[in-house]
Amino acid sequence: MRAMKRIVMLISGRGSNMQAILRAAADEQWPAEFAAVISNSADAPGLVIAAEMGVPTRVVPSADYPDRASFDAALQQAIDDFAPDLVVLAGFMRILTDAFVLHYQGRMLNIHPSLLPSFVGMATHRQALQAGVRVHGATVHFVTPKLDHGPIVSQVAVPVLPDDSEQSLAARVLDSEHRLYPQAVRWFIEERLTIVDGQVRIQLPVDAVPPQALFSP
Ligand code: GRF
Repeated sequence: MRAMKRIVMLISGRGSNMQAILRAAADEQWPAEFAAVISNSADAPGLVIAAEMGVPTRVVPSADYPDRASFDAALQQAIDDFAPDLVVLAGFMRILTDAFVLHYQGRMLNIHPSLLPSFVGMATHRQALQAGVRVHGATVHFVTPKLDHGPIVSQVAVPVLPDDSEQSLAARVLDSEHRLYPQAVRWFIEERLTIVDGQVRIQLPVDAVPPQALFSP
């Protein structure tokens, strides 16, 4: 039996991906301990959800720090106090310094609301609508210093419908994120993920649905 994995999740807002991960972990009895949820904003609604679900919460207010380096140093200290095996970025709306990212190399995941490498940065649903793509989606990836460019763990595709607004498309993608992200985190804690030459290899049981077959219904 593998040891329990300790997880720290970082949020800035709503926390619906965090909630989906906590629910899946409880329902599926993952060998994981959620050591803390940390937010850079005391107002993040996700903090209330985390507390209700019995996870310790911390706030490291980004507004209190003069620059990225000092905030990231304080955040790193707060995270490392919990000695996590994995850091999960779940709607953490901060650009991170290289030093911070490198400290968690190979043990920090992010979810980005597009099929990377398309549509990096912000307003991904607007970018997708403006590009006129027929298929959009979300990506879970390991975090590396280059924004939204780390090794891809898994992706989910959703259709772009003719009458879609930014909001309707965002809602469809978010729904898929809530299935995609828990699965990827579970793979990490089950030690199924390895990075080889900058690409993620996934060792799955023979009867598992392969990651490239994961499409939104
Ligand atoms: C999600 O769309 C995620 O892909 C992006 O930020 C949003 C966070 O939403 N990184 P929530 O806080 O998990 O509800």
